[in-house]
Amino acid sequence: MKVTLAVQRYNPEADAQPYEQRFEVTVEPTDRVLDALMEVYRNQDGSLSFRKSCAHGVCGSDAMLINDDEKLACKTLIQDVTENDGDVITLAPLRHMPVQRDLMVDQSEFFGKFRAAKPFLIAESEPSAREYIQSPEERQLFDDATKCINCSACYSACPVLDENPEFLGPAAIVAAARFVFDSRDKGVEARLDILDTPNGVWPCENHFECTRVCPRDIKITKLINLTKREIKRYREARGESTAEPQDGK
Ligand code: SF4
Ligand code: FES
Repeated sequence: MKVTLAVQRYNPEADAQPYEQRFEVTVEPTDRVLDALMEVYRNQDGSLSFRKSCAHGVCGSDAMLINDDEKLACKTLIQDVTENDGDVITLAPLRHMPVQRDLMVDQSEFFGKFRAAKPFLIAESEPSAREYIQSPEERQLFDDATKCINCSACYSACPVLDENPEFLGPAAIVAAARFVFDSRDKGVEARLDILDTPNGVWPCENHFECTRVCPRDIKITKLINLTKREIKRYREARGESTAEPQDGK
């Protein structure tokens, strides 16, 4: 079948604004959008810029807007985003991050927020010579959060970031939750500096857009709400107010 890729092109050093360029490609319905992009790159326009690495849904580098929805190009089949021969597939860069070139965005701020959430184990003591013992039930508490591949799809889809670019964002909270709910970790207090702030966990309004687009099916909104609850439990144990900041202020 033939499909047309309508790609948003933009080189900030040369173009006044983004524009659309169309490429017709011959594909199988079971090819992936990434295959179609590679066909354009190899045989039609080598200047087309996009990221990809693993091509198997593991590295998270090829998230983009496919027909205006956040998806991994390597996990999206042509037949899932077209109905008929000759259909047009629109491709654009993720939202909420500056465009570096064509479909590539600058993820510096996204990863800065991720790092600020301290996505590593904070233990109370030196590692013991033996393994930490953890029950299957304890492991299950943070299992979902371990699946994140840092693709930024949730960050792009979050409506709160439209209004408040300072919001920490879903992925950084998932990264924090990965450790907050790990029985071996003792770093809740160290993470409150970033989580329990007006732009930390509290601006989330339960739109569920992050959960909808996550290619790893992580229940992100649930994890954010569990983290909010954990912060309140922590404050309660210290006799502090559990009131939420209003409207992210
Ligand atoms: S939580 Fe899901 S959508 Fe967000 S960065 Fe991780 S894998 Fe991507
Ligand atoms: S190229 Fe690695 S997730 Fe798609």
